[in-house]
Amino acid sequence: MRREPIVLFDNGTHQCLCFDNLVTGEGVQTNQFLIVDNEQYMLLDPGGDLTYTPLSLELSKHIPVQDLTYIFASHQDPDIIAALDKWLLHTKAKVICSRLWARFLPHLTANYLAVSHGISTYDRIIALPDRGQSIPLGNSQLKAVPAHFLHSVGNFQLYDPISKILFSGDMGASLVDDAQPVTDFAAHLSSMEGFHRRYMASNKVCRLWADMVRKMDISMIVPQHGRAFVGPAMINAFLDWISQLECGMDLMGAADYSLPR
Ligand SMILES: [Fe+2]
Ligand SMILES: [Fe+2]
Repeated sequence: MRREPIVLFDNGTHQCLCFDNLVTGEGVQTNQFLIVDNEQYMLLDPGGDLTYTPLSLELSKHIPVQDLTYIFASHQDPDIIAALDKWLLHTKAKVICSRLWARFLPHLTANYLAVSHGISTYDRIIALPDRGQSIPLGNSQLKAVPAHFLHSVGNFQLYDPISKILFSGDMGASLVDDAQPVTDFAAHLSSMEGFHRRYMASNKVCRLWADMVRKMDISMIVPQHGRAFVGPAMINAFLDWISQLECGMDLMGAADYSLPR
């Protein structure tokens, strides 16, 4: 049963919406986000074929979808940007992603886009430098924030200084079915632990990231899967936990690299 998107922020001219229940069937739950400012529109991590149709239908209740200004792809995964060709064909959006992925994304689009529609995938991509950059949207300035190796080699998050929301991609993700705020951090850990231990590259990068985030003015951290961390107590609990988590290559040893029998 579809329900309305969660309104994360709305001051009349600037809005952040979260679509948290578009996945049906076998895919892992995902959150898709729309930021609106003065008739410009940014869609974050729209996903693949699984979410394309329900998401574009839901978006059309809120905005003229073909006028989408940007699609922000935090990294290259299937649940992030696999339906790239449909978004390029049906909207005029530019796609923002790491420069490390810009030259690989054309592999997600079919030749018919160029041949029949004159659409060059590469020309529609804004390739972010490693240190990130500001992105103007309406009267606001959004920030593409470095999150490399959390978990992709070229990984960005999006910080919105107006709502003070950090859209954190896979960082902080939990394997649950909704995007309601976390209320009991200890109870929530079991839905995050396995994912972060394997999908995050190492404690070093988690700590560097957490140290950066502590210096930012943030009202909520909202991941691309599962529940949000709202307010200083939950945000600090998450940053403290991830700062000390051993993960990824910290946990790898010789036994993990042996020939299967
Ligand atoms: Fe991912
Ligand atoms: Fe993801």
